[in-house]
Amino acid sequence: MSEFRLPDEKQARIRSSSFRTEIVRDPVVLSEEQKILGNGLNYFVSTYGCQANVRDGEVICGILEQMGFKAVEDMALADLIILNTCAIRENAENKVVGELGFLQAYKRRNPRLIIGVCGCMAQEPQMARRIVEKHPVVDLMFGTHNIHRLPALLQNIIVNDQRSIEVLSQQGSIFEGMPTIRSSRHKAFVNIMDGCDKFCTYCIVPYTRGQQRSRLKEDVLKECRQLIDAGYKEITLIGQNVNAYGKDLKMGYDFAGLLNEVADLGIARLRFTTSHPWDFTDEMINAIASRENIMPFIHLPLQSGNDEILKRMGRRYTREQYLDLYDRIVSRVSDVAVSTDIIVGFPNETRQQFEDTLSVVDYCKYDNAYSFIFSPRESTPAARMEDNVSLQEKKERLAELNGRLGEYSKMRNKQCEGKVYDVLVDGVSKTDSSVMSGYTRQQKLVNFRSEKARVGDIINVRITEGMKNSLNGIDVSEKRAENE
Ligand code: SAH
Ligand code: SF4
Ligand code: F3S
Repeated sequence: MSEFRLPDEKQARIRSSSFRTEIVRDPVVLSEEQKILGNGLNYFVSTYGCQANVRDGEVICGILEQMGFKAVEDMALADLIILNTCAIRENAENKVVGELGFLQAYKRRNPRLIIGVCGCMAQEPQMARRIVEKHPVVDLMFGTHNIHRLPALLQNIIVNDQRSIEVLSQQGSIFEGMPTIRSSRHKAFVNIMDGCDKFCTYCIVPYTRGQQRSRLKEDVLKECRQLIDAGYKEITLIGQNVNAYGKDLKMGYDFAGLLNEVADLGIARLRFTTSHPWDFTDEMINAIASRENIMPFIHLPLQSGNDEILKRMGRRYTREQYLDLYDRIVSRVSDVAVSTDIIVGFPNETRQQFEDTLSVVDYCKYDNAYSFIFSPRESTPAARMEDNVSLQEKKERLAELNGRLGEYSKMRNKQCEGKVYDVLVDGVSKTDSSVMSGYTRQQKLVNFRSEKARVGDIINVRITEGMKNSLNGIDVSEKRAENE
């Protein structure tokens, strides 16, 4: 174990006021040997979790392709399998642990198979130790701070026949110019910041991703410009809390300013996620309301509708402040859709406190929502709080909440029936090429029939049916051939 580097809980917590993010440019420079290390070998990257992980997955693919590895769609054909993991809740982790058991059989069949684990689970000290000790099938482990080290780590495995285990706990750097293979040719995620300093008491992200670090505005704009030049139709600016963008740079930037500048570049659709209700400024609302190419869709995580629970969660807003923000958004942004995240069964949550959450749901009637049972996470304050609510009770609350959320999303989707929406075409059914899917400006999934549309087009779809999770419709675009 001695040459392994494993994450450290104390290091992961550190937030020093003197910390200045180091910007590392073009960190991946391959040696001649590394450039051909993957020749003749296939890889498969399996990504779990949020957009930050999706973006990291694209970078991992970019590095591997530069090393000569080729992507395969069937995991069974891979010589290198990397699990890019999420640690947000226990069930996210259980999936990966199950997968590792399953991969043992692959390894028996192909002893040269390399199995890697990266992402947020690798950043958890106990979990990392458990994987190293209990899962000898894992040859490679790296974390969220050292993806650029992948060539050297793989070289150590392939050339020296050793396990490469290297996870760093640190405040973090910003890496610019990493190789990338984008997973779509018309929609892209652009990371504007990494890490999080909010330390909501239930959440593991500040420990797995380090201190909040914003990218320089020039670097974000350059990446967006390149995407537009390459024909991209939609950019989503991503960060754990995009409204805090720029605060750490102390250069007078803020998120509203960035939104306006990216919108000015002329991308057809601009989105962002996640916006924390705290610090959601009127300037942001103005930008969304006044700009045609900023999409009228806002993910506004509630977590709880009760002030005491919100306080114990460390969310820094009250129920009143949340509802006031909601009102300002819906009154100013026309045709806006709002989605949310809710946690039920936070330690010692009473029935009345849960009902306070239900009453916010009744008020906001969300277009879409993600709901979770509280899952205690290693090293977080909430994991140490006393909890007198049984799992059975939590499950019942979740079912009740989901019933309510489902009614409202269905109601909102029914209101779309008969109307025509702009839809960015995303995919074509494998079995019938006239059946397609895409998203409205409000981020609603639409399945529709069209004879002419192609992936990446923005078309007009008349909604014929609104259901709980999606809409059905037909392509009613006219004269598209002339427009192209
Ligand atoms: N940065 C985002 C959240 C990212 S995590 C924000 O602040 O909104 C996505 C969601 O997972 C959270 O909004 C929360 O609802 C849920 N979540 C996070 N930690 C959790 C935990 N320990 N148990 C259950 N749900 C959790
Ligand atoms: Fe987690 Fe809170 Fe940061 Fe979101 S803002 S990532 S919930 S600590
Ligand atoms: Fe999961 Fe890490 Fe994202 S814990 S939600 S992959 S930041």
